[in-house]
Order: sequence, then structure tokens, then C-alpha cells
Amino acid sequence: MNGNGYRLGAIGIISTFFIIIFSTVLMPMVIFRPEVTPSHNDYTAEKSVADPIRGRRIYIREGCLYCHTQFTRLQDRGYGPLVKAGDFRYETPHQLGTARTGPDLTNEGGRMPSEWQKAHLIQPRAVKPGSIMPSFSYLSERDMNDLVAYIQTLGNNRKVDKFVEAPEEYLPSTWTGQNLAKNNHVDTSSDAAANAGRGIFTQNCTACHGLNGEGNGPNSITLLKKPANFTRPFFKQYTDQMWYYRVAEGVPGTRMPRFGLTLTQEEIWYLVAYLKTLPQEHAVVTDSVDKVNKVDHIKLPKLTNQLYEPHHGGHE
Ligand code: HEC
Ligand code: HEC
Repeated sequence: MNGNGYRLGAIGIISTFFIIIFSTVLMPMVIFRPEVTPSHNDYTAEKSVADPIRGRRIYIREGCLYCHTQFTRLQDRGYGPLVKAGDFRYETPHQLGTARTGPDLTNEGGRMPSEWQKAHLIQPRAVKPGSIMPSFSYLSERDMNDLVAYIQTLGNNRKVDKFVEAPEEYLPSTWTGQNLAKNNHVDTSSDAAANAGRGIFTQNCTACHGLNGEGNGPNSITLLKKPANFTRPFFKQYTDQMWYYRVAEGVPGTRMPRFGLTLTQEEIWYLVAYLKTLPQEHAVVTDSVDKVNKVDHIKLPKLTNQLYEPHHGGHE
């Protein structure tokens, strides 16, 4: 019989398996060494009261990780400033976690007074009715204090001005970000570019985001996750790169498409120029169906007398 055929197959399977383990587990372990960032947690801050480093060991021992994560992603709005890979350089074993039975604790420090934290650990339902978090009342006084000290250090180095920031590949700190900026010939602060962007917006975005970007296009009625309302003051924080990133990559888990696949870089920069003009001090709120833009109201934008010269950058 042909035994070699089996042997060849077996070698193939084993080497494929090894290559996968090598390239996804072993290689990153050796070559991925992010720089330590200023935003990593500082466990020495409250040492005078109790010992947060010891508290961290209790956090690990009690398995808080099974229900709590410690990483904020772009879509985690309510959880505060974002994390970076370099934040976790000293976190061994890391407490990233995968399950969010309870809320993310990345920036929990300072959110509640220490006495509240203690009461919550002793009897969660006393301060949060209906909570399914187990009671940790069996912890000794010292363990409890150290654990609370640890909780209070979480996120203590993250500044709120970093709340929204595009991923690094869009920022000038990386060569992809530099390339993006270099290929951009659109002045995103000019009225002319904003006007050009408004035309592209009317064609591609108003069906969902509405004529004035209030999130009230005719499609919005049918969407479970409503289109963004760009008049919210929140969007004042967005940088050009952040706008670009959002339009190009869309929003995972919503109907927001990845326009990087269908629009040119240049068109997206025009859109950025327009979107930047929308955020206001007070958000315009669409709270009834009557305020939804009807399809037949959608017209082409008025042009100003400023001319613009379209460049033809094309796709990268
Ligand atoms: C079985 C899952 C589970 C475990 C284990 C668990 N928690 Fe929780 N935790 C929750 C849930 C659910 C909530 C949200 C309801 C509440 O606030 O009680 C929560 C809330 C919290 C909050 C409040 C967040 C806020 O600001 O509202 C903190 C702090 C917290 N947990 C810390 C811990 C610590 C520390 C441990 C380990 C000693 C731990 N949890 C273990 C499920 C869990
Ligand atoms: C099919 C409907 C649809 C279309 C078409 C659409 N969007 Fe969206 N858009 C959404 C939804 C839904 C969201 C998600 C809002 C959220 O995060 O909750 C979104 C989010 C966004 C965001 C992110 C806002 C944030 O919170 O960061 C930007 C920017 C955006 N859209 C721009 C555009 C632009 C520019 C166009 C046209 C080129 C466009 N959208 C077309 C539905 C749409």
C-alpha cells in the first residue's frame, strides 16, 4: 500500500500547525515590544494609605478578571480614555480579560469614593440594587483596603484629552500616517473643500445621516443603531485623522459602511472638511418621526462662489 501518502499528509498537517503557532504566538512574543507609554497605571501613587501592588495580586487571586476587562476600545464611549499597547508593559500577568459580565475597569480609579468601593465589594446589592456581582465580604480588612487602593489607581495616568484619538496608523507618528498626510492635497480647513465635501455627503450619506448631519435621514427610522448626529458637541474633539479614520473604516457593529473601499482618499478628505463644520455648542435633537428628513427634500447643495480645483489622487 501507499504509506508515503499518509506520511506526507501528517508532515504537512504538523508543519502547518507549527507555522501557525510560531507566527501567531511565538514570534509576536519575541518581537512585539511596545514602548512604555506615559498612560500606564501607576501603582505607587497611593502607597501611603494601602498597597495597590498587593491589591493587584488580590484582584488576580479573586478572579475579578472573569467578569471585568481592562481595555477600552474606540467603540467603548462611556468607559473613558483609550488604552495603548505600551500601557501594559509592566502588567504581568495582564488583566485584559475577555468577558464583560461587569463593566470595563480600565479607568475606574477615582470614579467612586473609596468608601463606596468598599461597600460595593462587601455587599454589591446594597449600593447597586439588582447587581449580580458576588460579595467579597470574606476578605480581610487589609486585603480589602489594598484591593480598593488598586482599583483607585486604575487609569490614573490617562488624560481626558486623549479620549478620542485615531489608531496609530492614521497618525503622523507612523509611516502609514505620514503617507496619508503626504498624499493629501485637500486643505480641510477651507470653505471650498467643505463645499465639495457637502456634495459628496449629499450623495452618499444623507440617506442615513440626514441633510444637515443630524442623524435623521429617511433610513434612520429603520436602523437599530442610529446614524451619528454630527451636531453633537462631542464631535468637536475629532481631529482630521479621526474623521478620516471613521469614514474610511466605518463603525463595526453598525450599518456605517467602510467608505475607504468605495471612495477615493481625496473624496474622503473633502468629506472631512465638511464634517468638521457640523459640531455645535448644542446638539440638534431629532426626537420625533416628523423631524426625519423626507427623501423628496434632499436637493443638491448650494455652491458658494469659491472655486475649487479637484485633484485626482485616486486610490492608494
Ligand atoms: C460574577 C461576575 C463578577 C465578578 C467575579 C466580579 N464582578 Fe465586579 N461587577 C460585576 C457586575 C455585573 C457589575 C455591575 C453591577 C454593579 O455595579 O454591581 C460589577 C461592578 C463592579 C464595579 C463597579 C463599577 C462602577 O463604577 O459602577 C467595580 C469597581 C467592580 N465590579 C470591581 C470588582 C472587583 C475588584 C472584583 C474582584 C474582587 C469583581 N468586581 C468581581 C460582576 C462581577
Ligand atoms: C446605511 C446608513 C449609513 C450611511 C449611508 C452612512 N452612515 Fe455614517 N453611520 C451610520 C451609523 C449607523 C453609524 C454609527 C453610529 C454609532 O456609532 O452609533 C455611523 C457613524 C458614522 C461616523 C462615526 C461617528 C462616530 O461616532 O465616530 C461617521 C464619521 C460617519 N458615520 C460618516 C459618514 C459619512 C461621511 C457617510 C457618507 C460618505 C456616511 N457616514 C454614510 C450609518 C450610515
